[in-house]
Amino acid sequence: MPKLIDVHPLRTSVGDFVAGLHSLETGIISQARVLEYLSQVNLRYEALSPYVFWKDSFYTRNLIFRDELFEVLALCWLPGQKTPVHSHNGQLGWMTVVQGEVLTHQYRYVRCSSPENQNVVGIDCLAGGHSVELELLGTTVCGDDHRVTLVDKIHTIHQIENADGARSGCVSLHIYSKPIDSCVAFDLNSRRCGRRSLRYYSAQGIVLADEGQAKIA
Ligand SMILES: [Fe+2]
Repeated sequence: MPKLIDVHPLRTSVGDFVAGLHSLETGIISQARVLEYLSQVNLRYEALSPYVFWKDSFYTRNLIFRDELFEVLALCWLPGQKTPVHSHNGQLGWMTVVQGEVLTHQYRYVRCSSPENQNVVGIDCLAGGHSVELELLGTTVCGDDHRVTLVDKIHTIHQIENADGARSGCVSLHIYSKPIDSCVAFDLNSRRCGRRSLRYYSAQGIVLADEGQAKIA
């Protein structure tokens, strides 16, 4: 476990944060190791501000760092903005909030028309089923109190939204291992699901030409 001895926890830079994360790649990446690392560092809003972009029509996904094992994003949520209910492609995820509060609604897969679609290599499910049944397990609040919200192979389906529906934007920091390029989005009304590709609104602080964006966290 890296010790950022020379880094003041209140002045952690994005470069420090990524270097520490990168050092975890020398061993097996587990939920617990990254959680312990996150307990040592504290990226504040000021450090993330170069990656903060707001869009009226949807929340933005802003790439900070990516390699073969880790993907680090800042997500920016205006009031009322939310994801659909979605999966995480069987990968691990850690989320903290640096400004505002987000709600995470956690779900469990119960059944669908095509469970055999989960028997596929490299992604969690081919999707495309109907009569999808999910169970809402609960809702958690994640604020700028350094709490970490997790997704993993057991708890992989959730929906995230800005807890403040009227006034304030919020910014969350997301770490995924491995990076997630697509996932399954669920429509709870039609009880159908489908795979969606994920794109970034900005990368390394620069808005992408096509403002590429899919509405998934
Ligand atoms: Fe998510």
